[in-house]
Amino acid sequence: MADFIGAVDQGTTSTRFMVFDHDGAEVARHQLEHEQVLPRAGWVEHNPLEIWDRTQTVIGSALTRAGLSGSDLAAIGITNQRETSIVWDRRTGRPFHNAIVWQDTRTDSIAKALDADERGQTIRHKAGLPPATYFSAGKVQWILENVDGAREAAERGDALFGTLDTWLVWNLTGGPRGGIHATDVTNASRTMLMDLTTLDWDDELLGFFDIPRRMLPDIHASSDDTAYGTTSGERGTAKVPITGVLGDQQAATVGQVCFEPGEAKNTYGTGNFLLLNTGTELVRSENGLLTTVAYQFGSAAPVYALEGSIAVTGSAVQWLRDQLGIISGASEIEGLAAQVDDTGGVYFVPAFSGLFAPYWRSDARGAIVGLSRFNTNAHLARATLEAICYQSRDVADAMTADSGVRIETLRVDGGVTANRLCMQLQADILGVPVSKPVVAETTALGAAYAAGLAAGFWSGTEELRSKWAEAERWEPQWSDDQRRDGYAGWRKAVERTLDWVD
Ligand code: G3P
Repeated sequence: MADFIGAVDQGTTSTRFMVFDHDGAEVARHQLEHEQVLPRAGWVEHNPLEIWDRTQTVIGSALTRAGLSGSDLAAIGITNQRETSIVWDRRTGRPFHNAIVWQDTRTDSIAKALDADERGQTIRHKAGLPPATYFSAGKVQWILENVDGAREAAERGDALFGTLDTWLVWNLTGGPRGGIHATDVTNASRTMLMDLTTLDWDDELLGFFDIPRRMLPDIHASSDDTAYGTTSGERGTAKVPITGVLGDQQAATVGQVCFEPGEAKNTYGTGNFLLLNTGTELVRSENGLLTTVAYQFGSAAPVYALEGSIAVTGSAVQWLRDQLGIISGASEIEGLAAQVDDTGGVYFVPAFSGLFAPYWRSDARGAIVGLSRFNTNAHLARATLEAICYQSRDVADAMTADSGVRIETLRVDGGVTANRLCMQLQADILGVPVSKPVVAETTALGAAYAAGLAAGFWSGTEELRSKWAEAERWEPQWSDDQRRDGYAGWRKAVERTLDWVD
């Protein structure tokens, strides 16, 4: 058997390809950003053809840089930004429209109308999701209603829908010349179109959005040795079986080896995504969390998760840099925030596009409260880091309320975890230790693990579990009173952001 596993990590801002060896150690990588297309306030798009081009480039160049070829890879896994939706013409491979990104809010009126009657409850019950702009179905409906020729093509069977995993699998396996049209259970669970119990598209849900079933991909396990085919071998991508497909937050859950019920991870990127493994039991949230599929390996039963999705965390740091100019790089925020011992009474709620979990309030807008003349940039920087941590506390508390499970140690990953002050604040605000693994690229690693399990490269989850090792740990230092008072102030600040827009 070949010595390595490859993983495509197609994210919101960039696409990377990584190669891992049998120990789960990184052997090669290449990463390229793509354009964020922002046609109007609240709209966020990506060019699918640009992403496909970038994907081919990073696969080819990562292999070349490491002196490897496709024949060195036993399999490839694909992980991706979830919910972002593409509709394309199966005959030409041309998208009908740019991809509509998960952060895009143009479908607000579609989501609101569904939530105004009993359809909202049906979506919650069947799909495990509240009607919101975040998920795919409204985006597909928008394309079918607004792009000339899209609906007719969809009715004829010439238009295909896919999230980024599906788009890449279809192109990697041959595109218009016979690409495989498939997705996995984790990505399908983010569309508002899949029933979580049957793991199949649901006709009633499809009817709510007027989406023809024939445009949807086939749903498979996240780890499967045949369903996703073999790469066609163009542009250095080689002929390699694709045996793992899963959404990026679920992949990070696998990369963090959260295989037991009660195990959780928090990924700190542009947003934060906290997932708690609830085992084969489907826990329906009563506290504003999502019920989602964590993974399904082969023919085993699916494993579910509760998820707290937070839209704006790391991107609030970017806002300090790009819009306010109080730092010139994201790494500067730690030094600035460390100049003061606390926020001086300031709270920053970065509800730039409403609030996601656990509030789901599209009418919220950002606020900085508690200001006095005493406050400086340093207080605002520290309040920004605390906002990342308080939002994670909100979803962690909701998880305990839903599941009865109190997270004992929080496993963290993602770019913001390089900020040690932020991780210390997270331990202080949650009141539990925070633990970071040696391999910080848990998303790509999780995709590699899913692919490697199906390919027989790794024997099972116990072997994967043995590879996880802690690199750093932060213990809570705040007193209980400090934690209680700080959080009470946060909740008050959140109240100020609600009902801001109609
Ligand atoms: O649900 C959205 C999430 O999958 C995006 O993750 O890492 O691409 O920002 P990321």
